[in-house]
Amino acid sequence: MENNRFVSSTKILSDLEIENGLRPSSMVEYVGQEKVKKNLEVYIKAAKSRKESLDHVLLYGPPGLGKTTLSHIIANELGSQIKVTSGPVIEHAADLAAILTNLNKNDVLFIDEVHSLNKTIEEILYPAMEDFALDFIVGKGPSAKSMRLKIQPFTLIGATTRAGMLTNPLRDRFGVICRLELYNEEELRQIIERSARILSTKLTTEAGLEIAKRSRGTPRVANRILKRVRDFAEVYGNGEIDNNIAKNALDMLEIDKQGLDNTDRKILTSLIKNFGGGPVGLDTLAAITGEDAVTIEDVYEPYLLQIGFIARTPRGRIALKSAYEHLGIAITNQTIPNMFDNITD
Ligand SMILES: Nc1ncnc2c1ncn2[C@@H]1O[C@H](COP(=O)(O)OP(=O)(O)O)[C@@H](O)[C@H]1O
Ligand SMILES: [Mg+2]
Repeated sequence: MENNRFVSSTKILSDLEIENGLRPSSMVEYVGQEKVKKNLEVYIKAAKSRKESLDHVLLYGPPGLGKTTLSHIIANELGSQIKVTSGPVIEHAADLAAILTNLNKNDVLFIDEVHSLNKTIEEILYPAMEDFALDFIVGKGPSAKSMRLKIQPFTLIGATTRAGMLTNPLRDRFGVICRLELYNEEELRQIIERSARILSTKLTTEAGLEIAKRSRGTPRVANRILKRVRDFAEVYGNGEIDNNIAKNALDMLEIDKQGLDNTDRKILTSLIKNFGGGPVGLDTLAAITGEDAVTIEDVYEPYLLQIGFIARTPRGRIALKSAYEHLGIAITNQTIPNMFDNITD
């Protein structure tokens, strides 16, 4: 269901076609996330000069912020090969053991959705990450022996949208933990301009900013909107994206001035109209909007929180003043907090 949504930041097929071309391949091209980049650059340089593998890296944050991209960049900058897999794909211990034994010295192993590895698989990773070794039990009963097989030193890069779902022993084995943040408008504008250049589309600065404003802090969404707006520009204009074309296209896509689409508005409206602004539990909100709870939490909430439309309290989600204002719903209850109030519920 979520994949039908235009601003959904999880991947849809058409993204795959263009993402590879738009994906920056070096730190210099990778816009924003300055703190994360600066730290990583130091660690990469140090690891290279010692000719050692980089410490294991955990990247976390909402979908579409550049975790996969950054992993490839890290491997590039290290001058290492990258092997890509993901938590749900690794079903058997033997699959992971095979991947690990085939790694070359200082290679990068990228595991996407690293929170969803199952327990037995995770346990193989512990000695692999810590000692670059695989532990086996050979034989059965009293004569069973444990054996250790050395593997090449490597860097595990784990990516997840849900750092909270990682087990403690796994999280503790990552030496570098980076949280990716939503991008600001200027950063998104730069990303959009770069993408337009690669797609050979003319785009005015104003139009770039207009798209940036409505991309909910997410490069994947920005690129997706750019692509759609480009279609509008080709059909209704001369192919160049100016502010007018951008605005009209965004209106036709029903993405409003804040970057909210119909589902965002549905979430806010039911929160306000059916529940008097909350607090409402995540599951109730999911049921009433027909989205699943994970999607609401991963995809919608981060942005609605960021722009101060909702807040999380111990008893559930509440709507803030700016959400009422944005939707044009009269505020009858003067105790509704805004973003800057100290909300303790
Ligand atoms: N910092 C960035 N600078 C430029 N483009 C970016 C950046 N981060 C992400 N992108 C673009 O957004 C798309 C989605 O990024 P991706 O790495 O797949 O996100 P994630 O793995 O976090 O879901 C990429 O294809 C890339 O084109
Ligand atoms: Mg990814």
